[in-house]
Amino acid sequence: MAPLTRNRATKGADAPNDLNADYYRQRASAGLIISEAAQISQQGQGYIWTPGIYSEAQVEGWRKVTEAVHRQGGLIFIQLWHVGRVSHVSLQPDGGQPVAPSAIAAKTKTFIETGFADVSEPRALELDEIPGIVADYKKAAENAKRAGFDGVEIHGANGYLIDQFLKDGSNKRTDAYGGSIENRIRFALEVTDAILAVWDRARVGIRLSPVSPANDAVDSAPAKTFGALVAALSARKIAYIHVIEGATGGPRDIAPFDFLALRKAFAGAYIGNNGYTRELAIDVLNQNRADLVAFGKAFIANPDLVERLRRNAPLNEPDRNTFYGGAEEGYTDYPTLEETAR
Ligand SMILES: Cc1cc2nc3c(=O)[nH]c(=O)nc-3n(C[C@H](O)[C@H](O)[C@H](O)COP(=O)(O)O)c2cc1C
Repeated sequence: MAPLTRNRATKGADAPNDLNADYYRQRASAGLIISEAAQISQQGQGYIWTPGIYSEAQVEGWRKVTEAVHRQGGLIFIQLWHVGRVSHVSLQPDGGQPVAPSAIAAKTKTFIETGFADVSEPRALELDEIPGIVADYKKAAENAKRAGFDGVEIHGANGYLIDQFLKDGSNKRTDAYGGSIENRIRFALEVTDAILAVWDRARVGIRLSPVSPANDAVDSAPAKTFGALVAALSARKIAYIHVIEGATGGPRDIAPFDFLALRKAFAGAYIGNNGYTRELAIDVLNQNRADLVAFGKAFIANPDLVERLRRNAPLNEPDRNTFYGGAEEGYTDYPTLEETAR
């Protein structure tokens, strides 16, 4: 199950609640659930009502989720998130500016209390602020362990902070974190190493979106940038790379990119994602072009997706109007095959 932000954490605390636990419990047959992205700090939050993993209330809330999934025999990793410039002053500590590698606003929207809104102008991170953010990732990884997760996925995709450092469209720094590829991949690797001080490498993965323009993320040479990053991750022997092939939620062929080369450059498992149908997933696995396939939207609407795919049964259609925010409707009320047959 691919990570899916649903903006239904308890308001104020941004902590997972019983409804969230029920949603994940319903989907425990996924094989491996990657949780919705969880911000590692308030500064790392970019949308309203997304769950954090930095307060005690949040750790307690996530424990309900992991216990519910484990009781059904499922496995769940948490996706660790810092949005960087994809945020809004109304979500930031003391109403401050969001932070980014460079002071360049993203041409993208966020979702705040009043609905969709343009993101706020970011400020460039000072060099001496970066270790503090890496430390926030480490603390979040420790919290994830206490909350009972089976592992962590680093959110390095979709134009958020790590991706902002990786791609030269958003990273114009002239210090050790910008310019050369070696410098632009530094932040991602420091975050990975901080997490590897907490978790066994077999329990750590990363999500990447080399050519996705999501949240205005652009790199002039993604094959080189991501080739270098993946080689460095491979040397660290982390469990997997989770790759969004093409534009997130859009065309798989948005730009030419050799995803197979990325797979070959990496020693661990390769999870493919984006626009997979049952047929395409079977093809790709048969051709050994991926080790696993992650499904996003199909899991929103089909808690028993695996059983449906196994039987080649029809799928419920997801309702986009209830993706972000709300309560049970469009969240925990999608029926299983069994429930439909009753
Ligand atoms: C409602 C919604 C929320 C999403 N939230 C996240 C997220 O928290 N983290 C992430 O990496 N991707 C997120 N994505 C992207 C999905 O994980 C996935 O990459 C995308 O939907 C394409 O896969 P699919 O065609 O199987 O849906 C989200 C997508 C949707 C539709």
